[in-house]
Amino acid sequence: HATENGVKTDLFTVDSPNVVYTDDEIKSKYIYRTTSVAQGANGKYVATPRETVYDFKVERKVGKVGMMLVGWGGNNGTTVTAGIIANRRGLAWDTREGPRAANYFGSVVMGSTMKLGTESKTGKEINIPFHDVLPMVHPNDLVIGGWDISSMNLAQAMDRAAVLEPTLKAMVKKEMAEMKPLPSPYYPDFIAANQGDRADNVLEGSKACMAHVEKIRKDIRDFKEANALDKVIVQWTANTERYADIIEGVNDTADNLIKAVESGHEEVSPSTVFAVACILENAPFINGSPQNTFVPGAIELAEKHGAFVGGDDFKSGQTKMKSALVDFMINAGIKLTSIASYNHLGNNDGMNLSSQKQFRSKEISKSNVVDDMVEANNILYKPGEHPNHTVVIKYMPAVGDNKRALDEYYAEIFMGGHQTISLFNVCEDSLLASPLIIDLVLIAEMMTRISWKAEAGDGANTKDYKGFHSVLSILSYMLKAPLTPPGTPVVNALAKQRGALTNIFRACVGLQPESDMTLEHKLF
Ligand code: NAI
Repeated sequence: HATENGVKTDLFTVDSPNVVYTDDEIKSKYIYRTTSVAQGANGKYVATPRETVYDFKVERKVGKVGMMLVGWGGNNGTTVTAGIIANRRGLAWDTREGPRAANYFGSVVMGSTMKLGTESKTGKEINIPFHDVLPMVHPNDLVIGGWDISSMNLAQAMDRAAVLEPTLKAMVKKEMAEMKPLPSPYYPDFIAANQGDRADNVLEGSKACMAHVEKIRKDIRDFKEANALDKVIVQWTANTERYADIIEGVNDTADNLIKAVESGHEEVSPSTVFAVACILENAPFINGSPQNTFVPGAIELAEKHGAFVGGDDFKSGQTKMKSALVDFMINAGIKLTSIASYNHLGNNDGMNLSSQKQFRSKEISKSNVVDDMVEANNILYKPGEHPNHTVVIKYMPAVGDNKRALDEYYAEIFMGGHQTISLFNVCEDSLLASPLIIDLVLIAEMMTRISWKAEAGDGANTKDYKGFHSVLSILSYMLKAPLTPPGTPVVNALAKQRGALTNIFRACVGLQPESDMTLEHKLF
């Protein structure tokens, strides 16, 4: 990953009058084409093509980036840290199946490619790593830190997690032993009582307060300074909390939320305290767990400060399959009528989720994932009609981090027939989640270096460049219950989410969206 003076060398350049490269920036003019629809008095639709011209500007200097994890000493926190160290050092280790080497499999940014275009002479498709479309940070260069209510150093915590091979652990142990999580706020009411035993690294006070917000802000500043960082991205990969009640006057507006933190209101969760601190510190904050960290007041606060937030809940296994499979079924015209999803897992996440209120958070985030696809098909589903959907999670210590997910999809096909698809998905949960943590950091960081202005059409005309909306819905691909700007639709379909991500990145360098039409192969 070559860089010159902090500017990543480009794998490709775009040859177009609409794209200008300077030492510090890539500037592009991009025509965004949409279709505006109106329904006439006769009930018929009129579709009108529209064009908006956007100017995009991408800062090319990547800078030095820090990643701070809340719940650093957990399964995900230790696994992603060991994984990055192993990649950075190019480690290979022995397993019973033979040697294995560090990689970034499972990361969209590091492990997937995108079609750049077609070679003019041969007609061959040219695919490039996702990581090379825009000048992105390399995960090997991330400086890692974070908080945990458990005081174990990262080497001990990695042993506790029981995810990685002993041979690999031995190679990273020394470095990990030096890493110690910062003390964190612990409000016992928000996570399962069975977590109490590990809470030996906590800040004084068991409810929200400004002192906690200020301490977290200072931790971020100190980390930045100690490592000479340009930017810090913070991510919640700590335990799933219970939902916070949304109460008028408490967490409904930015001002009320700040007052509720000051007065120590019992409905302000630790994750919301982190969100407030990060917003005030202008550090992008992403929530990898299902709870409603981003109460309306937190979103308003982020908007007020122009700070980036993203969430909720990593989409790693069962739900990722669901958002791909249901997309396929409904778009194939097959009427999905029920989904039964069972999980059992034996890691600390599973133990925490064995408590009803925390399970409820997970149940909510796992349940709404097919809504947009169902709603979009008014042939198969009447308004308000919905497939049956149930989600069960059980704690089974023996299987450890090797989570099991069993799903049955039941559908109605041609002439009253039925199709049943049964899935059995087994994998180390943390090995699926860790690459998502990396993707979320890399993409959130990238978004801090992209700005836009609109020139014409029905987009809001803007004179000066500005950033994307505070709520980064572009991160949806990695998240089960994607947070979107208030009042905007949620997209769960996996292919659409990836399309949004890749095509926005393409637009930033003046390239058309990948339409998959390949007329060049069909019309000769
Ligand atoms: P874990 O239980 O191993 O780790 C969580 C860590 O957070 C623990 O070390 C705990 O001590 C710490 N913690 C709890 N409250 C804290 C606080 N207030 N401040 C700082 N640290 C705190 O769990 P794991 O497996 O790493 O998962 C983390 C989160 O990610 C869970 O909420 C889980 O539901 C979510 N998630 C995980 C997925 C996966 O595939 N592993 C997928 C989707 C979500």
